[in-house]
Amino acid sequence: MSQTVNSPLVCPVCREALQNNDRSYYCPQGHSFDIARQGYVNLLLSHQRRSKHPGDSKEMIKARQAFLAEGHYLPIYTALEQLALKHLKNVETNSPLQVADLGCGEGYYTHQLDKALRKVLTEHKNPLQTWGIDISKDAIINACKHNSKVNWLIANLSQTPFADHSMDMITVLFCPINAQELVRLLKPGGIFIFVKPDAKHLIQLREHIYSDIKGQDENTAIEKTTDNPVHHPQLKLIDTQALFHSISLDTPESIQALFKMTPHYWRSKPEKHKKIEQLSQLDTDISLSFFCYQREH
Ligand SMILES: C[S@@+](CC[C@H](N)C(=O)[O-])C[C@H]1O[C@@H](n2cnc3c(N)ncnc32)[C@H](O)[C@@H]1O
Ligand SMILES: [Zn+2]
Repeated sequence: MSQTVNSPLVCPVCREALQNNDRSYYCPQGHSFDIARQGYVNLLLSHQRRSKHPGDSKEMIKARQAFLAEGHYLPIYTALEQLALKHLKNVETNSPLQVADLGCGEGYYTHQLDKALRKVLTEHKNPLQTWGIDISKDAIINACKHNSKVNWLIANLSQTPFADHSMDMITVLFCPINAQELVRLLKPGGIFIFVKPDAKHLIQLREHIYSDIKGQDENTAIEKTTDNPVHHPQLKLIDTQALFHSISLDTPESIQALFKMTPHYWRSKPEKHKKIEQLSQLDTDISLSFFCYQREH
């Protein structure tokens, strides 16, 4: 865990500001949260979790890590980086810049974006604080291995442990959002980037699993970019982008990794698992929309 400068963190119990030393985070009321040996902090209170191991399971995380390491989703990261750098120019930079990736999983996008932002903010003494937040402990333990400059937290996105109006930029990829919480977290003028799959995303994989998928025409991804998925009077949609790309998976291991990192594996019956296990080649589409919002002043 990197040393905190003007931390935006608040205590999940009493919502007072958290301070830290090398070993723990603590608030004036005496609530204290140890920094784990791997570097993360667990700010998830027992009543904020519905199960013993909330969020993505170990197996899902292992599959996602194996799949992402093969580089198939690099175009998604590249598009995210371009959008983040483009709109960061509109943010009045207080130092350090506060960036949070909510539902970060094992941090594939978070740690790369942290590195890219550090590169462009070189003239600042304390350029950046990046926060990667997920409810899954296994995801965060894996995230710690990527980048020790990112502050990795276990927390619930419905009550994030941050002060009001503390974030310059928030990213959310493949994860549901709570617009009211985003508005609370963002500074006036702050940027929110939301990445969500379109109807054609992984359609060739899904066709092996479900019998009722209606393929949509080539324009779907482009048309979808105009559909604003987040409606809040204080979040103004300022930019959209479609990403359409085909990937070719040519080993059963890659196909299995993709299948197991999606909810489709966990929703489908053993006979579908067997069907996908028999595939040795899969060409499938990545079809996503990027939505970029600015919080009203
Ligand atoms: C589909 S994964 C996406 C992970 C990452 N953004 C990516 O694209 O690689 C969704 C993530 O959201 C997390 N998640 C789900 N509900 C959550 C909640 N209420 N609070 C925090 N994280 C949550 C899961 O544990 C999982 O890691
Ligand atoms: Zn407290």
